[in-house]
Formats: sequence, structure tokens, C-alpha cells
Amino acid sequence: MTKQTDIFAALKSLLARAHAPYSGFRVAAAAVDEGDEPHFGVNVENQSYPVGTCAEAGALSALRVAGGMTVKRLYLLSEPDYGVVPCGACRQRLAELGAPDLAIITFDAAGNEKTYTLEELFPHGFRFR
Ligand code: THU
Repeated sequence: MTKQTDIFAALKSLLARAHAPYSGFRVAAAAVDEGDEPHFGVNVENQSYPVGTCAEAGALSALRVAGGMTVKRLYLLSEPDYGVVPCGACRQRLAELGAPDLAIITFDAAGNEKTYTLEELFPHGFRFR
């Protein structure tokens, strides 16, 4: 099982790999699968702004590529530190691949965490099946 301190350290170093020249807001995400393996993503912006992708989208894709099925913990760190929580589109993504007990954990720059459930962040989310 990967320790939370290891995840924080990994996210901290991954912030440098974000591509965020337009917003100046770097985000790193770790999606932990049902086997406790973390999968990482960073935001990758584009000069055609809507084409940019969120860190969460990258982490969820990495999880699936590695053979994970669902995310049971989603960790986030941003720079600057705003106690980042997933955007609306990523909440919809998490509703699709999140385990029923998904925990969304946001770190501040010092490594203190705050935990949310998806139900708190995304009540009455869209579903048609
Ligand atoms: N961003 C993420 O990567 N994840 C979030 O949860 C919030 C926003 C990115 C998108 C964009 O590259 C930048 O942060 C500013 O919105």
C-alpha cells in the first residue's frame, strides 16, 4: 500500500511536468485503484484553450491503461495552492470510474489534506443508466 506521504511527495515533484503556460495553474493528480496502485496525471494545456486536459483526466486514463478498473482515492495538489477540487467535468468523470466509497483528497502546499466524498461535490450528478 502506497503511503499518503509518498503520494504527496510524488505529486509535488510532478507539478513540474504540468503544461500550464496559459493559466499558470499547475495541477497533479493521483488516482489510486482497487489494488492500491497510484496512477498519475498532470494538466496539459493547449493554445486552443478548450483542448487542454485536466490532471484528473490524465490520471484516470493512466489507471485504465495500467489495468485498474475504478478509482478509490483521488489525490490532488496544485500550484499555486488553492485547495484544488475537481472541476465540474472531472466530477462527471469521477462519477463514471469512481468506486462507491471514492475519497477525493486535496493537499495544501504543506501536505495537509482535506477529504471530500463525490456525493458532497457532485450531488444529483447526471446519469442515464
Ligand atoms: N485543472 C485541473 O487540471 N484539475 C482541476 O481539478 C481544476 C483545473 C486545470 C485545468 C487548467 O489547465 C488549469 O487547471 C486552470 O483551470
